[in-house]
Amino acid sequence: MDINKYTPKYRFRQKDLLSLADLTTEEIFEFLYTAKALKKRFRVGENKPILRDKTIALLFGNASTRTRITFEMGIRQLGGNYLFLPKNETQLARGESIKDTAVMLGRYGIAALVLRAFTEAQVEEFARYSTIPVINGISDETHPLQILSDLFTIWEQKGRFDDLKIAYIGDGNNVANSLIMGCTKVNMDVAIASPHGYSPSRSIVERGMQFGNVLITDDIAEAVRGADIVYTDVFISMSDEDDEEKKQKLARYRVTPAVMRLAKDDALFMHCMPAHRGEEVAAEVIDGDQSIVYDQAENRLHINKAALALLLGKK
Ligand code: CP
Repeated sequence: MDINKYTPKYRFRQKDLLSLADLTTEEIFEFLYTAKALKKRFRVGENKPILRDKTIALLFGNASTRTRITFEMGIRQLGGNYLFLPKNETQLARGESIKDTAVMLGRYGIAALVLRAFTEAQVEEFARYSTIPVINGISDETHPLQILSDLFTIWEQKGRFDDLKIAYIGDGNNVANSLIMGCTKVNMDVAIASPHGYSPSRSIVERGMQFGNVLITDDIAEAVRGADIVYTDVFISMSDEDDEEKKQKLARYRVTPAVMRLAKDDALFMHCMPAHRGEEVAAEVIDGDQSIVYDQAENRLHINKAALALLLGKK
């Protein structure tokens, strides 16, 4: 389905946003069109107070720059309030159950809950017991808001999804998993180059293959050849222990100018950030003309606002 021929309804009928695996192509398009409308209003200084009298809880288990700031600023821009709850300052850190926490947050008048740095099973448990919408702000296995923001950025930059190829180089982590789900659902081809033992999980790859073309290889050139977008992420995710052996295996999976030359001439470079220059990406690439990493990061604001607007039934 061509996004440019799709008529948005600015509506989302599910209670939660947990994983792109749960979304149809049309639902992904709803997020992207809603973000586009909210970005337009933001640019002309006409944010509607659609979250007036609403308080959103941000329950975060690890450090964050983009996710935290874009939710806090987005909620303010839409006239709402937020409660920032570091997980280790709640009773969850001392063993209180997810069920008890989830039930109580709804009873206190919280309108929606954003979770960061829980396992996929814990995110699902929150959603099961919560009467309010639950948004997955990153889990060990998925990063749905990041990839919605990335798809929005690709649509802005390339004007379409059909016939595009994205090549992801590096660790087969939560970002790679969500790229497989999100990109195949909008009709992009996906190629992932990772060293043996660090590819995305087989179940995710098989699921992605139900929607589109997914190539898994350890050969960077095979993945990048003909790519419209080259994407990478850190070698060691926040949920992982520092691991020298892993870093050594990934060392040759750095996106360098030579790697970018294997892609199409007008290929773009993407990274969800934070980035480590000289590790997974060369400074000349991330700071070069093909890089759109700051557009990606900006669009986190508009996608997060879209997620709140759609889940709370406002526009
Ligand atoms: N990409 C991303 O989630 O950034 P933060 O870790 O800064 O939130």
